Amino acid sequence: MALAISRETIADIKNSVNIVDVIGEVVSLTRSGNNYLGLCPFHKEKTPSFNVVEDKQFFHCFGCGKSGDVFKFLEDYRQISFMESVRLVAERAGITLDLPKQQTVAKANPNQILYDLNSEAAQFYHAILMTTKEGQLARDYLQARGLDEEVLTHFNIGLAPKQPDFLYKALSDKYPNHEEALAQSGLFNIDEASSRLYDAFKNRIMFPLTDDKGRVIAFSGRIWTQQDHEQKQAKYKNTRSTLIFNKSYELYHVDKAKKVAQKTHELYLMEGFMDVIAVYQSGIENAVASMGTALTPEHVRHLSQFTKKVILTYDGDNAGQEAIAKSLELLDSLSVDVVRIPNHMDPDEFLRHNSKEALKQLLEQGRISSTEFYIQHLKPENSDNLQAEIAYVEKMAKLIAQEPSITAQNSYIHKVAELLPDFDYFQVEQAVNNERLISRSNRQKTSQYTQQQVLSPPVSKSLSALMKAEIQLFHRLLHHDYLLQSYRNRLDFTFDTPEIEALYELLCQQGEITSLDLAEISDAERQMYYRVLEERLPDEVASGEIEAIERRREQLLTERDIHKQSKQIRESSNQGDVDGALEALQQLIAQKRNME
Ligand code: GTP
Ligand code: MN
Repeated sequence: MALAISRETIADIKNSVNIVDVIGEVVSLTRSGNNYLGLCPFHKEKTPSFNVVEDKQFFHCFGCGKSGDVFKFLEDYRQISFMESVRLVAERAGITLDLPKQQTVAKANPNQILYDLNSEAAQFYHAILMTTKEGQLARDYLQARGLDEEVLTHFNIGLAPKQPDFLYKALSDKYPNHEEALAQSGLFNIDEASSRLYDAFKNRIMFPLTDDKGRVIAFSGRIWTQQDHEQKQAKYKNTRSTLIFNKSYELYHVDKAKKVAQKTHELYLMEGFMDVIAVYQSGIENAVASMGTALTPEHVRHLSQFTKKVILTYDGDNAGQEAIAKSLELLDSLSVDVVRIPNHMDPDEFLRHNSKEALKQLLEQGRISSTEFYIQHLKPENSDNLQAEIAYVEKMAKLIAQEPSITAQNSYIHKVAELLPDFDYFQVEQAVNNERLISRSNRQKTSQYTQQQVLSPPVSKSLSALMKAEIQLFHRLLHHDYLLQSYRNRLDFTFDTPEIEALYELLCQQGEITSLDLAEISDAERQMYYRVLEERLPDEVASGEIEAIERRREQLLTERDIHKQSKQIRESSNQGDVDGALEALQQLIAQKRNME
């Protein structure tokens, strides 16, 4: 990484703030011994397992395993880059960063030109739609679909004209010498033969897609002429992936919807752009849609930055209902309600067949819980298949048992029993009670476990003795330079634990491990680093301490080899491989002798 700030400055910046203050601004922390505890902002939990260690200036969550320093916290919490997090902390501490001007500008936004090009394109397309003759026909089409001028403006809808290089001519005139940026903008395709660029969208109604900040980053274009329909052109076409457009993350209309969600605390998630536009017309402005792809974990992460509650409003057809079931699994960290649109319609069709008021009412009052959705969705089709009924009751009992309200549980049990010819209320209730017992005993097990972990430092439990010895040794190398110098010269020395070995190599190369390194290494390595820091050893290295750790480590390594070899002997002799067994046995004997 080309660095604009020195490692020393980064360390100074880190030392200038207390991680407890920074995290304390967004997570409510209470003191617990040497540390601070709170609810983890990175995963959903009810009992606190998020630990901030003040004297070592790092955080660690026993629940999800995330750990890091103040920069890492800001990176993950705010979804920003390492350098941005350094800048934020510096600002907070009143440290002026001495960055060369040009570099700052370039670093601040290397992709600015791509945003500019997409924004220009959106303006061109919108102007074509609103002011030209060709645009008039497209506007008639949109008007017939119920989109008035206010809607066209709010969504910045446009038209890509028929000419194959309309946009290219306009933008290459305005941005001469930017051929590479034009090629990277996603707005153009390249003709292999002539290596010329031509417009990616022709004769399509254009829906600009914006990022959270409202910058245009991509488009989706819909066919609208009779001819294109007849020729079976793809109905929608999206911008390909670019440096500023990741379609597995982006959400249509999110920049505007998130502002409304701040007040309503919920977001509607829909399948199509036209659905988001339809519900906007009935006064619902907090709706988003994914870009024609199935929902991804990245979308979920994106959504959960703005809301804890999602209302899934997918098409009423079978595909839509299957998609709801899939999305519910991905959305399990959020609270989710479902709106089922009747008669296999999508929200847009529902609006055309009914009214704005009816659509609004459906979305606000026609919601069902995810459990209710499953009750209807998973219901066996064939009512005289007992096996299917039993399987259904078992699945539903699991879901119903998780429902916190007993009243709601009872009503679900009723619904399930009513749907089944061979089950009555009490039989379904019995199944739910069984599940309740199972989940309660599981819960008790896990809560004991987390409590133990909170009380003792993370290193103690569940680590093998060998790993513990290596953690201790590495702790000493990290903090005592003279030891590191002597180990460096032992070329055949390696740690057995891969994460520690990786950290050790880094330490040998650089003589230290900095925040910057911590931002670049793998999650597992970073977690190991903090486990090592957490090890509470006396400052002074006791005489004979290192030798004792080394002996212990050697012994554990040998024991492990012996264990492996005994296993090999057993396996070889089980398979009748006498030679193999003998050879392994000889090695084993030799090793045991060495140990004595
Ligand atoms: P209208 O037909 O205009 O009412 O749109 P719709 O939202 O009802 O479309 P549909 O339910 O068929 O599709 C939902 C979403 O899937 C659209 O908004 C697109 O994002 C995507 N999609 C549909 N058809 C295509 C296609 O042919 N290609 C691509 N890439 N995406 C499509
Ligand atoms: Mn539709």
